[in-house]
Amino acid sequence: MTEHELIDAARDVQERAHVPYSEYPVGAALETADGEVFVGCNLENANFSNSLHAEEVAVAEAVKNGHREFSRLAVSSGRRDAVTPCGMCRQTLTEFCDDDLVVRCDEGEGEEPTEYTLGELLPNTITQETLE
Ligand code: THU
Ligand code: ZN
Repeated sequence: MTEHELIDAARDVQERAHVPYSEYPVGAALETADGEVFVGCNLENANFSNSLHAEEVAVAEAVKNGHREFSRLAVSSGRRDAVTPCGMCRQTLTEFCDDDLVVRCDEGEGEEPTEYTLGELLPNTITQETLE
């Protein structure tokens, strides 16, 4: 999948977001090391703190299908305002992805997505190794 196709996948899945409260759909597309793509969208809840974030849903979908190695993540919001994974999602990603995971954030039509690595977004955090 090209970089643009990965962003498109993150855009497309926003159609299935459940966002009656924020009206702010988010889509995430997570690519495995062997090239499969798993998508997720945010699913809000009347009890706001129960809401699931797009990245969490994408990670869960990939891991429950047996994947543990990832290369790229694209994220996009309905406002195309360069949403980045929140702190909680960065930590969730860190559990399953290496520091060199490429995170591409949609900047809108005709604009290059902003690119980070997961290590840039969340350096020096707690991992499985910390607990050994
Ligand atoms: N949201 C995500 O899905 N991912 C993030 O990491 C940032 C925030 C969602 C949660 C909520 O449904 C909406 O965006 C507004 O915060
Ligand atoms: Zn989040």
